[in-house]
Amino acid sequence: MLPSALEKAVYGVYATNAVHLAAKHGVFGFLVTREAPTGKIASELGLDEETLDRVLVLLDAFGVIERNEHGAYRVSAEMAPFLDPSSPRSVGGFLSHVMGSTVGRLPQLDGYLTDGKASVDAALPAPFEVMYKTPKLTEEFLAAMWQLTYDVSRELVPMAGLGNVRHLVDVGGASGPFCVAALEATPGLRATVFELPEVAPYVADTVERFGLQGRLDFAAGDFHRDEFPPTECVAFGYILSGWTDEAGLELLRKAHRACAPGGRVLIMDRLFDDDRRGPLPTAVMNLSMHVEAKGRHRTAAEYVGLLESAGFVDCEVHRSTQDKQLVIGLKR
Ligand SMILES: C[S@@+](CC[C@H](N)C(=O)[O-])C[C@H]1O[C@@H](n2cnc3c(N)ncnc32)[C@H](O)[C@@H]1O
Repeated sequence: MLPSALEKAVYGVYATNAVHLAAKHGVFGFLVTREAPTGKIASELGLDEETLDRVLVLLDAFGVIERNEHGAYRVSAEMAPFLDPSSPRSVGGFLSHVMGSTVGRLPQLDGYLTDGKASVDAALPAPFEVMYKTPKLTEEFLAAMWQLTYDVSRELVPMAGLGNVRHLVDVGGASGPFCVAALEATPGLRATVFELPEVAPYVADTVERFGLQGRLDFAAGDFHRDEFPPTECVAFGYILSGWTDEAGLELLRKAHRACAPGGRVLIMDRLFDDDRRGPLPTAVMNLSMHVEAKGRHRTAAEYVGLLESAGFVDCEVHRSTQDKQLVIGLKR
């Protein structure tokens, strides 16, 4: 028998696949509303009963779902916010992205170890050329970003000091999850998503869905090539972790140029503990950033160092109860 930590590490790949399949085929959506044995779930969802049985037995053994003494499966109240597909904290979108995109890139790590990242990546397309290659991949990626960002943004916005801010620019703001949370909580605020042109229709859809005409707009641009629109606040959500210190510093310098005096920059990202021994999701995504982008995750002190190098002062660190944290820098 393997020690428990090694057991989870070795068998985790099966659990990831089982959670993904159960999410994809509506099993969690079914089980958050009622308890049921395998046969009933299989017949209602039109799934092969034997395969489903094995998937459910594994998910029960991993503690993701529970089986009662009558053989009926259920999703516990603790798991429901993350497994219910209609919940803003659902892991379904993230798992679709991991299984549809990241998993295909993980074998690159082998080559990175032997030949270095630069030489392996030289033969590969840029990350967003792949992610936005088809409408399905684009939709999956932006849905995953919405699920990772909207709910936690509602926690971060009250800590962001937006009281006197009339306009913010969300650089690489995806289809607008942070902007929507900020606009919902801050009357009188306007926001601009600064993004690759491919994302424009998805922001237009967000404006329509949330009735944000006149408050949320779109600026097409490449954050490496173009300056940011002038503003009072520049937000970076899961952006700096995608880039090296040098590229990140360049983005922060652009943010400093774009900000009015007294303006602010918001870095919203995963943080490593000071000793870089966790938390676990940050350690996982730090490896993922290596294959999906060119970046890494950092400690709060590392982000403060970058902010100060770019000219920001009076930096503050604010923590949510979730995976995304907030580091603020002010422009004098
Ligand atoms: C990891 S996602 C973060 C999305 C969002 N900020 C959040 O916190 O959920 C990175 C975003 O940066 C955008 N992006 C990537 N390269 C870009 C570039 N060169 N210029 C502008 N946006 C870019 C992508 O389209 C994507 O939406």
